[in-house]
Amino acid sequence: MDQNKKTYYITTPIYYPSAKLHIGHTYCTSVADTIARFKRLAGYDVRFLTGSDEHGQKIQRAAEAEGITPLEYTTHIVDGFKALWEKLHISNDDFIRTTDERHEKVVQELFTKAYEKGDIYKAEYEGWYCTPDETFWTEQKLGPNHTCPDCGRPVERVKEESYFFKLGKYTDQWLAFIEENPDFIQPESRRNEMIQFVKQGLEDLAVSRTSFDWGIKVPFDPKHVVYVWFDALVNYISALEPFAGDSELYKHYWPADLHLVGKEIVRFHTIIWPIMLMSLDLPLPKKVFGHGWMIVDGTKMSKSLGNVIDPNPLIDTYGADSLRYYLLSEIQLGNDGNFTLPNFVTKINADLSNDLGNLLNRTIAMIQKYHDGIITKTADIDGLDQEISALAEKTVADFEVQMEAMEINKALKTVWAFIGRMNKYIDETMPWALAKSSDEADVTRLQSVMYHLAESLRIIAVLVSPVIPVGAPKIWEQLGLTGFGDANLDTIRTWGGIPTGTTVVKGEPIYPRFEVPEMVEVVEVKEEAEAVDTSAIPPLKEHIAYDDFEKLDLRVAKVLTCEKVPKSKKLLKFTLDIGLEERTVVSGISQYYEPEQMIGKKVIYLANLAPKKLMGIESYGMILSASDWNEQLEVTNIDSLPPGSIVK
Ligand code: MSP
Repeated sequence: MDQNKKTYYITTPIYYPSAKLHIGHTYCTSVADTIARFKRLAGYDVRFLTGSDEHGQKIQRAAEAEGITPLEYTTHIVDGFKALWEKLHISNDDFIRTTDERHEKVVQELFTKAYEKGDIYKAEYEGWYCTPDETFWTEQKLGPNHTCPDCGRPVERVKEESYFFKLGKYTDQWLAFIEENPDFIQPESRRNEMIQFVKQGLEDLAVSRTSFDWGIKVPFDPKHVVYVWFDALVNYISALEPFAGDSELYKHYWPADLHLVGKEIVRFHTIIWPIMLMSLDLPLPKKVFGHGWMIVDGTKMSKSLGNVIDPNPLIDTYGADSLRYYLLSEIQLGNDGNFTLPNFVTKINADLSNDLGNLLNRTIAMIQKYHDGIITKTADIDGLDQEISALAEKTVADFEVQMEAMEINKALKTVWAFIGRMNKYIDETMPWALAKSSDEADVTRLQSVMYHLAESLRIIAVLVSPVIPVGAPKIWEQLGLTGFGDANLDTIRTWGGIPTGTTVVKGEPIYPRFEVPEMVEVVEVKEEAEAVDTSAIPPLKEHIAYDDFEKLDLRVAKVLTCEKVPKSKKLLKFTLDIGLEERTVVSGISQYYEPEQMIGKKVIYLANLAPKKLMGIESYGMILSASDWNEQLEVTNIDSLPPGSIVK
């Protein structure tokens, strides 16, 4: 803790230890790590938290299936998380487990406080529960055929006594807060979605369960365990130990500056969490940013689909920097991103090995060859040099602005444009020709060229360090510089930091070139098929007569246009070419497909379903989709769905 610096407290979600982590999780944590590292460079006193979310029925069932205790089950997996983060050079300052005593105590304190305030009350509850998502739903909010409106999986009917949290009571306070803090939810599209959601009305939230016991006990009624989201969200505060000693950490770092989360859990972080804090009279975090998903072949990467890409072999083969660089440079924060092995290798070869690696190799080799490895500080000797030193300073300034705006991919483009400029500078100045001349002017020119190259690399190394923390210090080592750990934006804002006499040290190429593989299979790890829980598969329906089937007019249709229905969370509006005419159809698949993905696709279409008005749009017929009981829905490709998935 540094009392003189501005604090910056950043968190990732705490991950469920129900599945092996894949590059979707790696993405989330790499983004957070890059921001944390950048903020340290920018002079903040940073605290960066990640962790694991270990309670809930799903974990209890998984542990039972393996015949071990839930804690044994989660500990093993959480050890794997920690090893992965280390391998990826994640610089978290703390790792919180919801099974930590420090966490359980705080959850119990806060639950009791809200209860004593009258914001938590006990009642009989009968409702629908999505076990995989650990979420209750009311009848009105359910999807078709009693499915979870978030993930599409069937919900279970539960009836039990439960404690309820008065979410509804805070609706107006929440809306006022969002109005006054326009930057709280980002990106903007997520903010609008959340406002719509709240305006539809908030129901009180069931915050305890009695049907299983793997959770934090309600202190004054121990047959209840605290609902996992009430438990999990508290991690952001419990990690700061607000009730320990003089609660120094808490006072210093809370409220958090940024909760970085995936788009599907923005709702929990921007509605439930702030309202919990309002009820507890605690300050609200400053920002929640919902990032997009890593997508494979157009669908979200997830274990149940067997399309997860394991980051471990990627890091083993290509290095942590390569994976981090690819994820951060390819994806605009907030958007979904794709991963394919050939694209990945092509990108790291071009940017890391060629552009950055070669600039370093050429620079070090030339300084050794022409000046016995010794750098001499030389002023700009012409317009070209002035352009370079000015561009270096501008690059630092632009990079800082873009990173502060969380435009990480743009900030990287800025740095790579400078790297490109420096490679061109070598070609323009032709040091090999200068080296052949003994003319005084050429000797000085050569010295200045070498200085401009080395000094640029000094600056570049610091700028790239939040993204490629393994290679960045090696650049300094090869330049003969020390103290990389103390470098920050202030030490590179001004041109001319390398002193005369600095001696370069040739090292291994920091980023080797790789063969571009043709096959993706090398790293696409198909997880072992999960034991199918057939109780999750909806039962078969009664026989129908062929005549009844014949009444359905099923057609192949081509999507001509597709757009989001304004103010709707789920609906997309389509124009279909059905051969004989064009049809307008509204379909509730907006959580699964971006409109652009659908245009040009062929779908199966039920043409003679009676028209129906949805959000003011007359919808003719229905686009068929298939969905499983996990988290997937498919319209155009059913290969990834398990047998028993339902078409409707
Ligand atoms: N345990 C909750 C979070 C509680 S925070 C108080 C949870 N865990 S999770 O393991 O399912 O997901 C953790 C994070 O990983 C989420 O932000 C989620 O969006 C992210 N991702 C999971 N799959 C992903 C992709 N395919 N792509 C990008 N991020 C993804 O939710």
